[in-house]
Amino acid sequence: MIQIFSDTKALCKEVTARLQELTAGAELVNVALSGGNTPKALFDYWANEGRGLLAWEKVAFFWGDERCVPPDDEMSNYGMTYVHLFAKVPEITKEQIHRIDGEADPESEAVRYGTLLEEMLPLRNGYPCFDLILLGLGDDGHTASIFPNQIEKWDATSNCVVAEHPQSNQKRISLTGQVINNADEVIFMVTGSGKATIVQHLIEGDEAIKKQYPAANVKLASGTLYWYLDKEAAAQLQERRD
Ligand code: 6PG
Repeated sequence: MIQIFSDTKALCKEVTARLQELTAGAELVNVALSGGNTPKALFDYWANEGRGLLAWEKVAFFWGDERCVPPDDEMSNYGMTYVHLFAKVPEITKEQIHRIDGEADPESEAVRYGTLLEEMLPLRNGYPCFDLILLGLGDDGHTASIFPNQIEKWDATSNCVVAEHPQSNQKRISLTGQVINNADEVIFMVTGSGKATIVQHLIEGDEAIKKQYPAANVKLASGTLYWYLDKEAAAQLQERRD
């Protein structure tokens, strides 16, 4: 399902509405967050105008990926979320926050976090099942921290893998395709003109072109995939999408 929004705030409002619906119908909603600029705008919205809209006590926060840096490092996805959301919304208690320990040994942390997911989430098809995973999209077609030059990591049989950023070689911990495709819902949140080409390739490209991109492998086993795009990111799509 593809929805196109006039701007980032309209996109953030729709993500919030979706999460409101999920929390209305459940005691606990397990959500995996993403890093990047679009999620940062969402967290700002949640901490400010959207502050009173969500039943925070019903949300358990996990991550789809994390940079292997300490939590107070400016590159930390958890650190960004803390600054933009958790520090401003005291209703969210530390018991609800399950960060990936970026400061730990990467291989050990990938195992630890994968085990944590099995302990804390319901299992389906033998893998942890998130109620909602928020994903960003890199202009190179990466998602979470599975990059095109390591696309085979998507198919790892574990819950998490250690990946490396192709330019910086910074180590990352990432969910694998097994867990991402096992979710009940995945929302790609994509904004900005810099993503228009990759969005067009992923949504309207042929199978061959898609093989290059990890994000093209997001095909949920039984859940629902939403593409939330702003107008700029959707600019190269041929057909009007409702
Ligand atoms: C990360 C993110 C990454 C991000 C994309 C899009 O850790 O970097 O998880 O996958 O979502 O790079 O980022 P933007 O939203 O900033 O374009």
